Amino acid sequence: MLTSKMEKALNAQIRVEAESSQVYLSMACWAEVKGLEGIAQFMYKHSDEERMHMLKLVKYVNERGGHAIVSELSAPDTDFGTFQKMFEQLYDHEIFVSKSINELVHVSLEEKDYATHNFLQWYVAEQIEEEALARTILDKINLIGNDKGGLYLFDRDVQMINVESAAADTAQ
Ligand code: FEO
Repeated sequence: MLTSKMEKALNAQIRVEAESSQVYLSMACWAEVKGLEGIAQFMYKHSDEERMHMLKLVKYVNERGGHAIVSELSAPDTDFGTFQKMFEQLYDHEIFVSKSINELVHVSLEEKDYATHNFLQWYVAEQIEEEALARTILDKINLIGNDKGGLYLFDRDVQMINVESAAADTAQ
């Protein structure tokens, strides 16, 4: 059984994951209308992953005797300036999510809820990979600079990048 403090904190994270999904969906739309098809596909995929992160929490809360709350969400930006800025924003967003997960782990220890602590380890590992992914992409973007051919190749290749391949890159 979840304590009410734990339940509230998990519900707050459900909202964070749902908002993350919306942010990346909005990024996908921005890229798609700009003709950046590969980047758009990458963002659609990322948005789906965030929804999966949210659902995993929803099911956990309900399973442990709590009530997962589907709340209103803040509207994401619709204009991201440049694709470079958009990926910087993605990186900053993942740092924010990692902090939020860390807070949640802290609450689980305070509440002596070791089942939730154990459940959250999946998210801790996932955030390491997500941050690695964002950093790998930013490194690639820095290599391109303002080269149009580079952007063409980046747009083509970015849809192949996933969390696992980025983690393998950083492990080298
Ligand atoms: Fe669910 Fe990208 O953190």
